[in-house]
Amino acid sequence: MIITPQLAGNVARSCHPIGCQQALQAQIDYVRAQGAITTPKRVLILGASSGFGLAARVALAFGGGADTYGVSFERGPSEKGVGSAGWYNNCYFRQAAEAAGLQAANTIGDAFSPKVQEKVIADLKADFGQIDMVIYSLATGRRDIPATGESFRSVLKTTGAPVEGNTINLEAQALEWTSIPTATSEEITHTTKVMGGEGWQEWIEALLAADLLAPGAQTLAFSYLGPELSAPVYRFGTIGVAKEHLHATANHLNEQLQQTVGGIAYPVVAKALVTKASVFIPVMSVYLALLMKQMKANGTHEGCIEQCYRLFATKGAGQQPVLDEDRQLRLDDYELAPSLQAEIAKIYPTINGDNFKALTDFDGYLHDFMALNGFDLAGVDYSAEVDMTEMAALKP
Ligand code: NAI
Ligand code: NA
Repeated sequence: MIITPQLAGNVARSCHPIGCQQALQAQIDYVRAQGAITTPKRVLILGASSGFGLAARVALAFGGGADTYGVSFERGPSEKGVGSAGWYNNCYFRQAAEAAGLQAANTIGDAFSPKVQEKVIADLKADFGQIDMVIYSLATGRRDIPATGESFRSVLKTTGAPVEGNTINLEAQALEWTSIPTATSEEITHTTKVMGGEGWQEWIEALLAADLLAPGAQTLAFSYLGPELSAPVYRFGTIGVAKEHLHATANHLNEQLQQTVGGIAYPVVAKALVTKASVFIPVMSVYLALLMKQMKANGTHEGCIEQCYRLFATKGAGQQPVLDEDRQLRLDDYELAPSLQAEIAKIYPTINGDNFKALTDFDGYLHDFMALNGFDLAGVDYSAEVDMTEMAALKP
């Protein structure tokens, strides 16, 4: 079958498996070209199939020779469609890692589900042994708690006065004036249940109880803070409240790990990037497209793989992490450079529906989004048939 991109608003309804393989290979090639790094050797990644989780996995495996176990929520091919990009990322990652002599296992399922947790723990006991590092990189809108029948949904709203601003609509390739309402206290609680630190805490406690954390084990969770400009939507948004909870959880887990295995827990504050999750955050997209333009112009632009390589190569993650006074590892140092933010703050208010393609890196933003789903990549023949029987035989 010939696979074409299908966009609905900011959601990709198709993905190109061969393109996904190539995008993954580009991440592997980047890491190999940078050179070997010292990393933990046995790593569990929750949210391993795309974005930061996948990039961390590639940096660990192909930079540091780590064996990795990934958990993610993805769809394989079926009568309904080709499946999700993350599915193919998992399949091709495992192939590439095994070809390099590394262990790579995947479980596809809901990381919040106790059943999935039990399965992963049984697998780790059987095939991996104690884990040196746990990476928490889930981005989702929903968390179900089977024991109580509760179901929480996250919302992307502000906690202050309603905010108005432009958002990029990828399908229409246009700006859309959007207003972001104030969340209710219940919406704030629910978002925190989904995107805060509870899920992380449950995993670490379950791994400790199963004696699966090695002496000195480290755990990190990806987070974001962002500049003043996006604060009404991000830091003072429902997602920001959830991230505050995640950071508080890091401190709590840090004490727990110190007392048990002599380990350490910390949040990694990354830069804003185009991922499947981030394009949903209203108003952030215009800031992000402008950020990309300015960072490319001053030579500091990074994608997920550059960020994750730097995390292990120069920020000491997994060894002696370089933390700030709030115990956060900062990968947003280039994004928050004061001169860069001053420039952005000047240009941002002048952006409108007529000039946004010129003033921001809209093309780069759109390309990155398409590339997440295996499209718009040089070297992929999109007019060629993709053999879906072959695709259906792939195993994550
Ligand atoms: P992503 O959408 O690329 O990755 C999310 C991962 O979570 C995928 O592997 C997905 O399969 C998995 N997942 C989602 N729900 C799941 C579930 N119920 N069970 C198991 N796996 C599940 O998103 P991205 O952007 O890499 O986000 C990861 C973390 O990084 C999030 O905490 C996000 O807030 C944070 N972050 C993102 C930034 C950005 O600009 N994209 C910036 C800084 C931090
Ligand atoms: Na991820």
